[in-house]
Amino acid sequence: MAPCHSLLSFILTVTATLAAASPEKKSTFIVQVHHEAKPSIFPTHKHWYESSLASIINHATAAETTITDASAAVLHTYDTVFHGFSAKLSPLEAQKLESLSHVVAVIPEQVRQLHTTRSPQFLGLKTADRAGLLKETDFGSDLVIGVIDTGICPDRESFNDRDLGPVPPNWKGSCVAGRDFPATLCNRKIIGARYFSAGYEATNGKMNDTLEYRSPRDSDGHGTHTASIAAGRYVFPASTLGYAKGMAAGMAPKARLAVYKVCWSGGCFDSDILAAFDAAVADGVHVVSLSVGGVVVPYYLDVIAIGAFGASEAGVFVSASAGNSGPGSLTVTNVAPWMTTVGAGTIDRDFPANVRLGNGKIIRGVSVYGGPGLTPGRLYPLMYAGGEAGGDGYSSSLCMDGSLDPKMVRGKIVVCERGINSRAAKGEVVKKAGGIAMILANGVFDGEGLVADCHVLPAISVGARGGDDIRKYISAASQSRSPPTATIEFEGTRLGVRPAPVVASFSARGPNPESAEILKPDVIAPGLNILAAWPDNVSPSGVASDERRTEFNILSGTSMACPHVSGLAALLKAAHPDWSPAAIRSALMTTAYTVDNTGGSMLDESTGNASSVFDYGAGHVHPEKAMNPGLVYDISAYDYVDFLCNSNYTAKNIRTVTRKGADCGGAKIAGHAGNLNYPSLSAVFQQHGKTQMSTHFIRSVTNVGDPTSVYKVTIAAPEGITVTVEPETLSFRRLGQKLNFLVRVEARAVKLSPGSTSVKSGSLVWFDGKHTVTSPLVVTMQQPL
Ligand SMILES: *[C@@H]1O[C@H](CO)[C@@H](O)[C@H](O)[C@H]1NC(C)=O
Ligand SMILES: *[C@@H]1O[C@H](CO)[C@@H](O)[C@H](O)[C@H]1NC(C)=O
Ligand SMILES: *[C@@H]1O[C@H](CO)[C@@H](O)[C@H](O)[C@H]1NC(C)=O
Repeated sequence: MAPCHSLLSFILTVTATLAAASPEKKSTFIVQVHHEAKPSIFPTHKHWYESSLASIINHATAAETTITDASAAVLHTYDTVFHGFSAKLSPLEAQKLESLSHVVAVIPEQVRQLHTTRSPQFLGLKTADRAGLLKETDFGSDLVIGVIDTGICPDRESFNDRDLGPVPPNWKGSCVAGRDFPATLCNRKIIGARYFSAGYEATNGKMNDTLEYRSPRDSDGHGTHTASIAAGRYVFPASTLGYAKGMAAGMAPKARLAVYKVCWSGGCFDSDILAAFDAAVADGVHVVSLSVGGVVVPYYLDVIAIGAFGASEAGVFVSASAGNSGPGSLTVTNVAPWMTTVGAGTIDRDFPANVRLGNGKIIRGVSVYGGPGLTPGRLYPLMYAGGEAGGDGYSSSLCMDGSLDPKMVRGKIVVCERGINSRAAKGEVVKKAGGIAMILANGVFDGEGLVADCHVLPAISVGARGGDDIRKYISAASQSRSPPTATIEFEGTRLGVRPAPVVASFSARGPNPESAEILKPDVIAPGLNILAAWPDNVSPSGVASDERRTEFNILSGTSMACPHVSGLAALLKAAHPDWSPAAIRSALMTTAYTVDNTGGSMLDESTGNASSVFDYGAGHVHPEKAMNPGLVYDISAYDYVDFLCNSNYTAKNIRTVTRKGADCGGAKIAGHAGNLNYPSLSAVFQQHGKTQMSTHFIRSVTNVGDPTSVYKVTIAAPEGITVTVEPETLSFRRLGQKLNFLVRVEARAVKLSPGSTSVKSGSLVWFDGKHTVTSPLVVTMQQPL
């Protein structure tokens, strides 16, 4: 037996049986190679990769032999947005591989999570005003949105293909059949469907075919929901279980969908996500929608950033969710400047409900409970399930399986704290123990942000302050002669809520932890209580014992905000086929708004105070205005290379992201990372005992409005900062013309304690009498420790 075979088999043996014997636990790595270095003796890249793997294992170990299936060690090969493969390796093997001359980088795999707050519910909602945008028939129908997610439930009204033309001729994707998903399920709406599980199974073992579909079919609901937000057809009426009725439709109802399933019950694995990017770009999608994220790492270790770079270089717009770890600062994820990072806002509809306590006090909350309610006018015994603040400030949880004593709970309304298990799962625990209803109270860090859930019993969600009031009442009443009582009053659906939008509490916030010079998130879009399609095999609460089935469901999260922007990007691309992904993002950013429907500054749900640029980036997307922005800030792949140079990435690290060698000499002379032609401006100063600090930004705008137009600048300087722009007038003579300007920012040092920062924001606006092109301008001063 050839040594390479015997040694490769060693990997498999270790994986299967010798894990305990080896101190080096294996995990998945993504390996980048110099693609063009393949020796001609190997018929394919895959053969070459297998041989490389065999050689390192050969040196790593003695010849232990059992299995001979070399190809099993390679999980995926990549050749569109990335060149290389993924494999399960020990740290030592990974190190050996990295030392090979044709290997560029060996990247450890991250496991990612869906960015939903998992708040299933049933209700009707109109996503946004798109009427004008969609007037033209077949608008957007040649555009394909690739959704990288949990798959899709294809047999929903939202995905019917009535009146859609044939599949666009340049589409190269396909419909991969699998369990309960024959290829015939693809139609002229869902034109592609694939699934990627090798990375997941390499870590979690073979999937449980009872629990999961080894096919593009969705067994979770998240992917069906996000796909229909991006491109669901008009469905009327779209109400469930008697709640609000309305029209449900995605942002781009005629756009086509291509589904790339990468998320399984154990999470979404980088090696599979990269395979999905690779396939989506090769298939010919125009937009990638990714409502998934993990922890922020440098771009050369971030497989989502790497996949997205390849996509954006191929002209594919990538929108990604910002994450749900708000409202703390530095929580934003998916922050690479070639992706569009989307936070979540509320819409002008909510579902008010009240807790009426035995002492007459009313605590306001939200609920979308649609089943039989509590008897009107009757007060029920009330109890607190207990809970204590954990080290992280969140209450550790009660209302976990088995934690409630049925003797105590029967017939009562139970107060539960937010915690580790899902909100809907807590309702199930209370119901099983014989509780009659549930009050779900936020912990201190959850604040006042409320999400509606589809509970299996009457339930209401209340903020941290309301929760405190209820607990105080319970403890006072328990010591008196009248035991605590309460009821819950459901008020249904309220429309025209003011103020709206408001930045959702959970929406992840800046500053950007990886590149302080690039403001993130870029924009916000609707992400709270969003109605969209739901599979027929999953309950709306997500709780297994819940047997209800609904065509639509309500979820919350930046997961829901992201596909709004994906759909919008498809509409913008349909209207402006020559726009790059950066131009599309620029149009969304420079036309976004920061004022709510009361005319005041957009608020932050977590504090009730005004929100800031770190919460919403450029603001809330405005679909109509984005169609005609006047000017765009465009960015090419070369500009991103300069940005990476100026971010002090090494040539090797830059190659990992861009697949090309980089000569940083020129870029470094030309400037700093903040000079990337981004539609927002972020200056970061280290005070170091200086009294005066200054920097400049060079920007270039492309005329996409009227051929001859004259734009004048207006500057709203951040407080205490001097901002000048040269020139102050830009005169365009034709479409497509680019003009440059220089922004100079001067700041006087402010009094700050060591380690603290001061943040001031303002804006820079170009106006030609018709188009308003707005960029946020933020200045951060840091006092070193
Ligand atoms: C798969 O999941 C089902 C349902 O939870 C369970 O009964 C079964 O034991 C699982 N099978 C394996 C191989 O784990
Ligand atoms: C909200 O604003 C008020 C007034 O400026 C301030 O006193 C308060 O601390 C702010 N609240 C939070 C949570 O930031
Ligand atoms: C890169 O290094 C230079 C020189 O040390 C430094 O001035 C600059 O701030 C660094 N840039 C970033 C983005 O870290």
